[in-house]
Amino acid sequence: MKLKTAIYAFAALAMTATPLTSVAQKWENLARTPPMGWSSWNKFGGNISEKDIKEIADAMVSSGLADCGYVYVNIDDCWHGERDEKGNIQCDPVTFPSGMKALGDYLHGKGLKFGIYSDAGCKTCAGEPGSLGHEYQDALTYASWGVDYLKYDWCNTPDQNPIGSYRLMRDALRAAGRPIVFSICEWGTAKPWEWAAEIGHLWRTTGDIGCMFDNDKQYGKGYWNPLGVMQIVDKNEPLRTYAGPGHWNDPDMLEVGNGMPENEDRAHFTLWCMMAAPLILGNDVRDMSDATKAILTNKEVIAVDQDPLGIQGWRFMSREGIEYWYKPLADDQWALCLFNRNRDAKKVELDWKDLATHDIISNRDFKPAVDRYKYRNLWSGKDEGYTGKNTTVTIPGHDVILYRFTPAK
Ligand code: GLA
Repeated sequence: MKLKTAIYAFAALAMTATPLTSVAQKWENLARTPPMGWSSWNKFGGNISEKDIKEIADAMVSSGLADCGYVYVNIDDCWHGERDEKGNIQCDPVTFPSGMKALGDYLHGKGLKFGIYSDAGCKTCAGEPGSLGHEYQDALTYASWGVDYLKYDWCNTPDQNPIGSYRLMRDALRAAGRPIVFSICEWGTAKPWEWAAEIGHLWRTTGDIGCMFDNDKQYGKGYWNPLGVMQIVDKNEPLRTYAGPGHWNDPDMLEVGNGMPENEDRAHFTLWCMMAAPLILGNDVRDMSDATKAILTNKEVIAVDQDPLGIQGWRFMSREGIEYWYKPLADDQWALCLFNRNRDAKKVELDWKDLATHDIISNRDFKPAVDRYKYRNLWSGKDEGYTGKNTTVTIPGHDVILYRFTPAK
């Protein structure tokens, strides 16, 4: 009798405990390093079609981008048609005539992954149907299409609580049974870095990026009030302690190749890598200049972003517009980015004593005057020597020098 009572008690406990542990969980182990891929928004806005997406997918493979790790092909706003009589969301029958399942199969057949976009409110930012009231239904639809990544926006949500709304979609994605990366696009208004790690895999920390460096000249299509690359950097940099494997600060998709000069593109890309940011391309990869391609496919620079330690770097000091950024890397290595925020070139002396630092996340010291490191310039691909002896370098305006330091034997 006693044993039976104990079994009943245990069963009752298990029944109450199970929902708490099994429902409220995001899909784990999906974004141990920052997600990499391409999105339609920055270049094409709402002007997208199945034909363009397929051509982009082909170019991702033929250009070598997929081989560098850019695998998600994310269709942003404006793929939608109307909901059917049962409330199921459908794609636009004119621009996506073969349907989303067929498009997902096409992407998977190329070794790529399929990303899609929706919104927590009644409508998306471009006025398409949002997921409000259809969360579980939409998650099931996405799973049936073979979706691997959902960007979930925050337009048209006047009375909604962001934590509750994003949790609801997280639970819906979990219940739909297909592992899907959950990209929270709340623009940083409700400080998602404080609550989103258990909900999604990345969260936007700022408003929308524009194709401009310093909030001065905007290249390409213009629209309401975008942020320049520098404004985004300054907002995203202080949030480093919130990021880590499986949960990343997202300073928005890349503008490399959309019109900024090559030096600014290189600085933008490098700072995203130093901040362990998701690398979601925003250019037309069917038609890239050699300079754009060289930036986006530099595997040694990408490796700084994708380092398995998964620690977001930080601005260690700033002197006369020269910023010194550090990022600790696996195997006791470090990345150092010298970023010249001025328009003109600057010469600086690297005095290794000045460059000692400590990372509070990994609790590691970098003492290049005491410990000997070999250092390699990742943009020129040259090993430049060993720490210990001071050296002088020139950094062009709005440009970077990026080094990887390896302990010398
Ligand atoms: C918002 C997002 C953008 C993009 C558009 C689409 O502005 O922040 O990244 O998805 O909506 O309408």
